Amino acid sequence: MIYTIENDKLLIKVASLGATLVSFIDKESNKDIVLGFENENDYLNNRGPYFGTTIARYANRIGNGTFCLNGATYHTPINNNGNTLHGGEGLSFKEFELKDKNSSSVTFVINSLDGEDGFPGNLKLYVKYELNDNCLFISYKAICDKDSVLNITNHSYFNLNGVASNALDQELKIFTDEVALLDENGMSKEETIDVNGTSYDFIDYRLISENIKLNHNNLSGGGIDHNFVFESLNPKQLVSLRNDQFELNVYSDLPDCQIYTGNFLGDLIGKNNQKYHNYYGVAIEPQYYPNAINYDKYIKPIIKANEEVTHFIKYELNGRDK
Ligand code: GLA
Repeated sequence: MIYTIENDKLLIKVASLGATLVSFIDKESNKDIVLGFENENDYLNNRGPYFGTTIARYANRIGNGTFCLNGATYHTPINNNGNTLHGGEGLSFKEFELKDKNSSSVTFVINSLDGEDGFPGNLKLYVKYELNDNCLFISYKAICDKDSVLNITNHSYFNLNGVASNALDQELKIFTDEVALLDENGMSKEETIDVNGTSYDFIDYRLISENIKLNHNNLSGGGIDHNFVFESLNPKQLVSLRNDQFELNVYSDLPDCQIYTGNFLGDLIGKNNQKYHNYYGVAIEPQYYPNAINYDKYIKPIIKANEEVTHFIKYELNGRDK
């Protein structure tokens, strides 16, 4: 089921399947700035890109699909070059239950059972989409009956052009100078580098295509698929994306942010029969450092038994004076 929420400025469509952001429309220009499919069947038949889905229980990778918690070892499904990506089967293509809908928000809930995809504990996860003026808030609330891990994100791809087109012609600013290096399997190593002078230097607004041309040898699929390191649970601005018409600011209390330039999208038919290809969207994925549960250096995505965990992602869409 797909639900619509709108105010004076924005209209969003959200599917109960995966509590997925299907459309994010600026009403004045009628431009839809996220990639997505026409209906839930298309989401089920094209899972690879995770267009707009909620990712849980574990966004990004778990090395070798193995982690230890409280002295016990857990195994999660290997689905990406020897690692677990996005929680294995995950919650992205599960049906969430509608909890509440009013004129400004829609809230979904899902129960993930103890042992599902190998994760300990019965987890209850609420996902709320709320519009306020020119902002979309996604808030997450979770509770688990055992100590467990939880790394949530939303996997929306943005293209401010509002039509299927190369998204690398957008300008990006990222509010950190530290980025994770990838191993040969696309997995973030524990090691990070200073972005200065590399393809990942978005300290000031840079055209994404220009940075990629620098062809840093750690690129993935000819683009960016990297975790930018903030390591702070405080609310903060992570990223700003802009073109001539719009500026999108992204804030979150999640510690880091994966940026993925759609390097492996392939050829897909999206909403309104639009044809999507590689690099047609930029995924902005606030999250914990990939594989942090197995690294010593980073904040670990642990949820303690019966203690509520909350997180948010806020998207602010501004028009730009021409
Ligand atoms: C994340 C990963 C990418 C890719 C996308 C989904 O960004 O890092 O490699 O799997 O999700 O396609």
